[in-house]
Amino acid sequence: MNTSKTTYSEELVFRPLPQLVIDANVNPQEFAAAQAAAQADYLAYWEDAAHELEWFHKWDAVLDTTNAPHYHWFPGGQCNIVHNALDRHITTGNKNKLALIWEGEAGDSKKYTYYELYREVNRLANALRSLGISKGDRVVLYLPLIPQTMITMLACAKIGAVHCMVFSGFSAKILRQRVVETQAKVVVTADGFYRNGHLIALKTLVDEALMGGSDSVETVIVVNRATLDVHMSEARDIWYDALIRQERSEAATEVMHAHDPLFILHTSGTTGEPKGVIHGHGGYMVALHRSLNWVFDIKPTDIFWCTGDLGWITGHSYVVYGPLIAGTTTVMYEGHPLYPQADRMWDIVSRYGVTVLYTAPTVIRMLMRYGHQYPRMHDLSTLRLLASAGESISPDTWLWFYKNIGHSQCPVLDTWWQTETGSCMITPFPVSVLKPGSVHRPVPGIMVDIVDDQGQAVPTGVQGNLVITQPWPSMLLDLDRNSQKYQSTYWPLKTHWYWTGDIVSRDEDGLIWIHGRSDDILNIAGHRIGNVELENAFLAHKAVAEVAVVGIPDKIKGEVGKAFVVLRPDFAVLEDRNEIIRMLKEHLRKEIGPVAVIRVIEFVDTLPHTQSGKIARHILKDREAGIAKDPSLLAES
Ligand code: WT7
Repeated sequence: MNTSKTTYSEELVFRPLPQLVIDANVNPQEFAAAQAAAQADYLAYWEDAAHELEWFHKWDAVLDTTNAPHYHWFPGGQCNIVHNALDRHITTGNKNKLALIWEGEAGDSKKYTYYELYREVNRLANALRSLGISKGDRVVLYLPLIPQTMITMLACAKIGAVHCMVFSGFSAKILRQRVVETQAKVVVTADGFYRNGHLIALKTLVDEALMGGSDSVETVIVVNRATLDVHMSEARDIWYDALIRQERSEAATEVMHAHDPLFILHTSGTTGEPKGVIHGHGGYMVALHRSLNWVFDIKPTDIFWCTGDLGWITGHSYVVYGPLIAGTTTVMYEGHPLYPQADRMWDIVSRYGVTVLYTAPTVIRMLMRYGHQYPRMHDLSTLRLLASAGESISPDTWLWFYKNIGHSQCPVLDTWWQTETGSCMITPFPVSVLKPGSVHRPVPGIMVDIVDDQGQAVPTGVQGNLVITQPWPSMLLDLDRNSQKYQSTYWPLKTHWYWTGDIVSRDEDGLIWIHGRSDDILNIAGHRIGNVELENAFLAHKAVAEVAVVGIPDKIKGEVGKAFVVLRPDFAVLEDRNEIIRMLKEHLRKEIGPVAVIRVIEFVDTLPHTQSGKIARHILKDREAGIAKDPSLLAES
């Protein structure tokens, strides 16, 4: 592996404003003390965190390593995440506080206090019980971003059933696969929903998925979201409203073991073929609680908006469970950020007074294209913290977000984590000194290392594989029905080294920089160059709106780069494409050096994305290699 320059703009450094440091839940001294304490005894650190939540019965030990790499956190502990996310708030001042602010794409909205949400969840929990659903049963959710989705997740968890969300943009074919794999007894869906001005029919896709029957599915519950005329199969289908109409608004909360499964969620395909990741009640709630209070610095007055879809881990952890455990107000928006125009997100921020905004680089890049006149139409002064996740945020995108949305007052937290990790692993804190493009340091209690393919630690500035060297509470429990794959994918070298699959380096200040997934890193004449560095350099040029760089074979250098570039509108109209190519190649040479050999630049109107919105480089690579991919895996971007 080669030494590489971390990024071209590493000299940029941002310090937190004094007031922010004074108000922070964790100030720099407390952060340093927590880091040191966790380093010395990470089990004691997590045990302290567990004590902050309510348990029906406390654990016998913090961690059981007997079956490593299957780790049991808080063995003997009994709890239910919904007790901490809802039930316990009903006896405090949170009872009448807003738990959820929901807005539909058409502009309709609905608000729930903790008490109202609690009662709705209880009614559905009772209804699910009356359908014969109990602890350990699987329920597939094929639902858009509507309140009933959150209610259904919580109702399942309350009675000990395992929810399995299938993203509402997926096809009937994928839905069928998930139903078959999970052997779900119930599917919960909606008649339709609104997205980018279109009415999307969903129930018909469920009918298609279940055509010819399914061994396991006994009931399909249908939420009336769009008053669509749908076919209801008499023996199988029931309207959500009819189902809960007679139900009582109190329901017993199932006592779960800390290690009992809470949900199954399939990875988005960033980390190879989708895998059914299982998360549990106990450890997951403990890590999320720390994450909201420490990383997101939650205060009683916050309005927290994570824009992730409930079909992905970001939605599970930072729209539903994390914010509710923290007792904050969570915002959910059904529709598209460009509907009816590019200021929708800023409109939502100003109308509800959002204080913490957590989104993804793909969303920011899309909105950047429309220029700063859209954020300028709204009062964004309530914001105090910005955050990003899912992909590398290029320093230029970071700066745009920082200046135009945060008005240079709000830290931008670049949070690194995975479906498998359950909560943020590597991220700055609000009080950190920030370097745009770096994900900073692991949070207290998380131990990482950077190693070569043989497992030897690499020196400062050298790229290597990111491994997490101690188990952590919100880690996946297993892969659904595939323990062997769990072992070989995540623990290939040692049973206590979780292999992330990301290539990273550490700079002289000890900060971590992500260079890409190991499959996406280029090897040009023996030099390993992250696709992230090449793409960031492209994004620093004013002509480029979006870009993906992939490696293509080269007789002499082994591999060279090919860039797929989406131009900004004012450059896209220019006739002389050769001149733009010349300009971009020269720009790359200046930013990175002669090693950055970009052989081909192809201009495209859009890039393929995974369903979760990330650039799907593997599709471009396969296309280059002439392999046609299943079009159902392509987003409608
Ligand atoms: C992969 C995991 C953030 C959770 C939702 C996505 C990439 C994630 C960052 C970041 C650079 C990032 C990694 C990781 N990734 N966050 N801040 N900077 N890359 O979870 O779909 O399971 O994807 O996303 O490559 O391994 P996921």
